Amino acid sequence: MRTAILISGRGSNMAALLAAMRDPAYPARPAVVVSNRADAAGLALAAAAGVPTAVVESRGRPREAFEAALQEVLERAEVGFIALAGFLRVLSPAFVAAWEGRMINIHPSLLPAFPGLDTHARALAAGVRIHGCTVHWVSAEVDQGPIIGQAAVPVLPGDTPETLGARVLAQEHRLYPLALAVALGARPPLPEGEAILCL
Ligand code: GAR
Repeated sequence: MRTAILISGRGSNMAALLAAMRDPAYPARPAVVVSNRADAAGLALAAAAGVPTAVVESRGRPREAFEAALQEVLERAEVGFIALAGFLRVLSPAFVAAWEGRMINIHPSLLPAFPGLDTHARALAAGVRIHGCTVHWVSAEVDQGPIIGQAAVPVLPGDTPETLGARVLAQEHRLYPLALAVALGARPPLPEGEAILCL
């Protein structure tokens, strides 16, 4: 499946997906990496991996114009599936509907807990003992689509948002390639007992 990876910054989840896609047996191939910010560090990583990149700047333009330009890039690259990987721009219901069933996202919390931003600081403030990440289908309501898979980590004494975030991020890199393969139907859905990868 020709897959676009959409990023806004560092691109470490993108790198994990690209690494998985190097395996000929993996069900997805990188069609293009698209960033909505020209200064996203992940663009250089993708280029170094030999993957086509594109910038569709989102700042200072109406959402319709941004999404029309994005759609054009995706069509030109003959994209069949989208993986959002640290893509921090909310997509319109119309764009989401156009890609329904063909677009997934990774979020740094155990949804439905802590949708939105600053998830690690909020998890610490709430005193949760278990935190993690979620890969889910993208639906019109932000961070609320059906869950494909989750990975959990312990919250440890003395954790800061940074230490907790790093522990979660390591599991994001493990979960996302697995969940993309599940989403593409190349692996059976995670059985209920394994729907949370406890690590
Ligand atoms: C990741 O932790 C991802 O889960 C999060 O942004 C980070 C991007 O890091 N995504 C969201 O918060 C989406 N709401 P990366 O660029 O190194 O993959």
